[in-house]
Amino acid sequence: MISVHLLTPFPDMVNAIINESILKIAEKKEMVKYTVHNLFSYADPPHHRIDDYPFGGGSGMIMKPEPLSRAIEESTKDVNPGDRVRVIFPTPDGKVLSHATSEELSKADRLIFINGHYKGIDQRIRDRYVTDEISIGDYVLTGGELPTMVILDTVIRLIPGVLNTYESAETDSFANELLDFAHYTRPEEFDGMIVPEILLSGHHQKIATWRLDNQLEKTKKNRPDLFKKYLEPKEESE
Ligand code: ADE
Repeated sequence: MISVHLLTPFPDMVNAIINESILKIAEKKEMVKYTVHNLFSYADPPHHRIDDYPFGGGSGMIMKPEPLSRAIEESTKDVNPGDRVRVIFPTPDGKVLSHATSEELSKADRLIFINGHYKGIDQRIRDRYVTDEISIGDYVLTGGELPTMVILDTVIRLIPGVLNTYESAETDSFANELLDFAHYTRPEEFDGMIVPEILLSGHHQKIATWRLDNQLEKTKKNRPDLFKKYLEPKEESE
């Protein structure tokens, strides 16, 4: 069972997402346990401030180190020796998320997500605790909750047994080098549009070829960078 700790000033945002769909199913199947920490409850009374002005001046507020440090310590207090713990800070100045990173994180025993707000968090928290600084793309969101949920979703669905057939995660786009092929279901004709005949033929080899062609065509059009990589000769691994 993977233990996930979510540190946030907005617990409702996080709860809204972990209480539905795959993230919830994973919890019901006892494959994951979520603990949501409200950062305000780790801040000093009487004002319970979690942010302050930046040293050196400049615009925007910075999240104070003490509430974050206390919440991280609380999230790690019952870690067993040998447990693989990752402290993740979603941030636009991090490494861009990839399928490989999600796979790696899905093998951890404990994931701690720091949901940043305002202009950022005190660098000393990053220096002391954070193991993974992850960006979900070259754009800026208002807070860390949405990127955290994106990262978490990509990780949880990779835990064997969470999806009905692990296969359905293995054949996703990015699980291999090409984008996913087109999918169809009933009815065979919808509003004048028909399902490609090969898919109805029951001929497995022809279906596989059609799907690969479809993947190649889509990858070439939507992701020329991936297509180029796919065509490059593979390095021999010994
Ligand atoms: N926080 C704000 N923007 C972000 C991004 N693009 N990725 C991860 N965390 C963020």
